[in-house]
Amino acid sequence: MRIIAVMNQKGGVGKTTTSVNLAAGLALQGRRVCLIDLDPQAHASLHLGVDVSGGVHSIYQVFAGGKSFNEVVQLATENLWLAPADLDLAATEVELVDAPGREFVLKNALAQANVDGAYDYIVMDCPPSLGVLTVNALTAATEVFIPLQPHFFALQGLSKLFETTALVNRRLNRGLKVTGIVMCLYETGTRLAGDVTDDILHFLSHSDPQAPWASAQVFSNRIRRNIKLAEAPSHGQSIYEYAPVSAGAQDYQGLVKEVLQAEQQHMVHDRVAA
Ligand SMILES: Nc1ncnc2c1ncn2[C@@H]1O[C@H](COP(=O)(O)OP(=O)(O)OP(=O)(O)O)[C@@H](O)[C@H]1O
Ligand SMILES: [Mg+2]
Repeated sequence: MRIIAVMNQKGGVGKTTTSVNLAAGLALQGRRVCLIDLDPQAHASLHLGVDVSGGVHSIYQVFAGGKSFNEVVQLATENLWLAPADLDLAATEVELVDAPGREFVLKNALAQANVDGAYDYIVMDCPPSLGVLTVNALTAATEVFIPLQPHFFALQGLSKLFETTALVNRRLNRGLKVTGIVMCLYETGTRLAGDVTDDILHFLSHSDPQAPWASAQVFSNRIRRNIKLAEAPSHGQSIYEYAPVSAGAQDYQGLVKEVLQAEQQHMVHDRVAA
């Protein structure tokens, strides 16, 4: 099972759009996927058409200790489960501030829920911050995907993100790796987009081979700016339901394909590790 944290502390770069359409795309390919919404804004839950205002159980209750992980998970569509978020989740940052083992709450909850046998993929949509929710995601994850919008300061933001993953790797989760950078809101044909991508590739190729991002790739499927991707959330649908022949659907299908291609490698790696 792969547990993917989709994270970037910068806001509005495509984390939620990528989490939802990656998870939904994998589910359409027959994989059993659980999407965990870790953002109090609950955008991923709303994107899947789950109304979080009506007293549904949310991942907040797992952090608060009232419910088990399996009690808050619900089936969204075929092969796709959701652990929804709600605004209460914002309190978690404060409530866990002095709690011992606060970084491990989600990891422990997933272990107790026996998720290994239940899902092929867990995808976690992180909030735009490096607080306790994101640290919980990184501690529970086997790998990190970073959505990135190509702009002038992208590389600086990326270094900060990499430092965080290195810290978590050292202190909390030895196996954590950054496996992929997803270029989002990509303006094809602009010089800036190409330059930023080249800078990132250069940075990665000159990294310390021991760093958790040493084997990171920039996914060759760039996610182009496409209005259908911005419209889909308000209809409570993934891009494949809302606009199946749009450029947005095509780009995310391409990303899903790349992720599936790496499956074989992961299986070999898991066998060797076991
Ligand atoms: N490729 C795209 N083309 C057009 N619009 C997009 C694309 N990707 C994302 N958007 C839109 O851009 C906005 C930000 O995207 P998204 O919510 O996925 O980012 P985020 O990183 O999750 O934001 P936050 O940090 O607030 O959680 C949303 O309105 C979304 O619909
Ligand atoms: Mg988001």
